[in-house]
Amino acid sequence: MKIEGLLFDMDGVICDSAKYHYLAWKKLANHLGFDLDIHQNEHLKGLSRRESIDALLKIGDVSFLEDKIEELMALKNSWYLELIKNMDESDLLPGALDFINSAKKNGFKVALGSSSKNASAILKYLNIENLFDAVVDGTHVTNSKPHPEVFLLGAKMLGVNPKNSIVFEDATSGVEAALNGNFKCVGIGKKGTLHKADIVVNNLGEITLNQLEEFFQKA
Ligand code: BG6
Ligand code: MG
Repeated sequence: MKIEGLLFDMDGVICDSAKYHYLAWKKLANHLGFDLDIHQNEHLKGLSRRESIDALLKIGDVSFLEDKIEELMALKNSWYLELIKNMDESDLLPGALDFINSAKKNGFKVALGSSSKNASAILKYLNIENLFDAVVDGTHVTNSKPHPEVFLLGAKMLGVNPKNSIVFEDATSGVEAALNGNFKCVGIGKKGTLHKADIVVNNLGEITLNQLEEFFQKA
């Protein structure tokens, strides 16, 4: 396999914003009278805001009318925006920027594939709004991960074949989205959680493009 394109999730892969999503969802759960622990949170990771709140309400075994759900999503987002407003380059995850810059230098096309509607604001906070050749986020897609839409659109914008491209993901729903789209997948996080990915590393600083090329050539 000759690698053509690299597609990166944002929250939890490029930057440490997954923890802020968790804190804001946990606060919403507490506001509604139940708790959300880090294990339950794994089921929310990667999902769109709407799919996330549906999953959260299921965990708390509560239901609301549509207007109230909209209000609760807005409340969570306001808490989330408050938490991320001071993000800067120091919130980039170890190795992320070097890995992407080195990929670009070596001629690989790179895209962002995030479920978040706050992606463009975060890219600005991190000072990397011009880093990617294509940016696909929650404002561009209708189907939430594990549907592969966000990555398929990214691959299309890059002009690359999914089969020859790698998705980097920290969420089980995102790993599934990658595999559903026929991409190769590198999991960022714990092997136990991301066992469906082709390889799992703790962060992008732990792997080089040469190693990935070698690995996928043999695969
Ligand atoms: C994903 C996160 O990247 O974006 C999810 O993993 C989050 O936790 C989703 O719910 C939607 O984000 P936002 O910023 O549009 O609410
Ligand atoms: Mg993520």
